[in-house]
Amino acid sequence: MGSLAILFVCLVSLSGAKAYSNIGVNYGVLGNNLPSPYRSIELLTIMKAARVKLYDANPDILRLLSTTKLKVSIMIPNHEISGIAANQSIADEWVRNNVVPFYPKTMIRFLLVGNEVLSYNSEQGHKMWHDLVPAMRSIKRSLKSLNIRDIKIGTPLAMDVLQSTFPPSRGTFRSDIRDSVIVPMLKFLDRTKSFFFIDAYPYFPWSQDPNNINLDFALFRGNFTTRDPGSGLLYSNLLDQMLDSLIFAMSKLGYTNIQLVISETGWPNSGDIEEPGANIFNAPTYNRNLIQRMTTKPPIGTPARPGVTIPTFIFSLFNENQKPGPGTERHWGLLETDGTPIYDLDLTGKKHITDFASLPAPENNVPFKGKVWCVAAKGANEIELASALSYACNEVNMTCEALSPGNECYEPVSVTDHASYVFSTFWAKFKTTGATCYFNGLAEQTTKDPSRPFCKFPSVTI
Ligand SMILES: *[C@@H]1O[C@H](CO)[C@@H](O)[C@H](O)[C@H]1NC(C)=O
Ligand SMILES: *[C@@H]1O[C@H](CO)[C@@H](O)[C@H](O)[C@H]1NC(C)=O
Ligand SMILES: *[C@@H]1O[C@H](CO)[C@@H](O)[C@H](O)[C@H]1NC(C)=O
Repeated sequence: MGSLAILFVCLVSLSGAKAYSNIGVNYGVLGNNLPSPYRSIELLTIMKAARVKLYDANPDILRLLSTTKLKVSIMIPNHEISGIAANQSIADEWVRNNVVPFYPKTMIRFLLVGNEVLSYNSEQGHKMWHDLVPAMRSIKRSLKSLNIRDIKIGTPLAMDVLQSTFPPSRGTFRSDIRDSVIVPMLKFLDRTKSFFFIDAYPYFPWSQDPNNINLDFALFRGNFTTRDPGSGLLYSNLLDQMLDSLIFAMSKLGYTNIQLVISETGWPNSGDIEEPGANIFNAPTYNRNLIQRMTTKPPIGTPARPGVTIPTFIFSLFNENQKPGPGTERHWGLLETDGTPIYDLDLTGKKHITDFASLPAPENNVPFKGKVWCVAAKGANEIELASALSYACNEVNMTCEALSPGNECYEPVSVTDHASYVFSTFWAKFKTTGATCYFNGLAEQTTKDPSRPFCKFPSVTI
């Protein structure tokens, strides 16, 4: 008993003495206005990130990272998985080209095979599912043959690998992947003492059902709790529920010890009008509370697995203006592209949540109801607008007759006005089949009706 207590004290003080947090940042590069890799890494260092996660193995970035103490996670792109699974020489070559030149100076610690592979439900996707674990094994063999033992191999998966997540004790994997992919994967992760890498965003379930999921619960505000009737465990936040549903799902397959890494989490700082809760009140609240939780010593863990450290990567370093889809996709960043913080954040978790300056009151936490139009974005390039305009007018079932000379929307004869009319028309017509008000960044939403006396702009009612 006595020696155990001493051992415990030593462990705690050792981990305290290291003075690094377990907080990493995802460094996504889907933007055409991002700082250079050199500047980006400098920014990560200034922010005191402990880890950085890349979506590839960019040699320039890996070389630059050798001058830092950042722990690095690299990724094999999805399209390389099948080749690696089929042929050990290709796996060896990948490691020779992407790990050997940089390791160990660059502190590569995680090598991730693919990204959210099990979310691609297509014929090509199914081939990747089938090849995923064989590719992980091949890469492991390559590393082992080079006697590299401190790089863990994993694959980040999205919450859609679970068929049921609520309550957490009912967590189960999807039946279409359970036996064919998940079981061999868990076996591999267990045998190699690696981690289950999960991308877990409380923002998504909350924003899809904001009337039934408590926002304070999603933001870790600690004043709303709910008990899982199956396990009797008490939950004070949505992330814990999500993580525990995964832990229960793994336990049901006989794997009770595989540790988790949160490979992505975060909260968007802005988004489209119909996307509630994306703002610079909730984003810092979520991330600050998350960091505080994940850096507490001794570690908090989750209700199903108390006291266990969960390395966590926040998504993302920058707002990335070239990500397609809804507006939130381009607003997960911690930093503007000029490097200034979008809001104050302390990745070390030392600054207490109450020590930050107060935040602007959120204005879109209640889902918007009303009419929305899609117009040319302020400052959009006229040449690009003209080409987007003709692209949209040439789509099947689209008509731009109103813009012809003499017709109701012809005046004023300006590319911006015409584009706004076409964007609104296009979006109103095709929103139900997945169109977004984006047009490669040329369009933005507005709640102010841009119609003129004789020219009515179509709108979308949300
Ligand atoms: C495996 O890949 C290597 C190198 O790319 C190639 O030379 C070899 O022919 C391949 N082997 C098979 C069985 O496809
Ligand atoms: C939790 O606390 C916040 C901030 O003090 C408050 O605005 C919110 O209404 C509280 N929520 C619940 C469910 O009590
Ligand atoms: C065009 O309209 C027709 C008839 O309403 C419909 O069947 C077809 O799917 C539409 N095409 C597109 C590209 O929306």
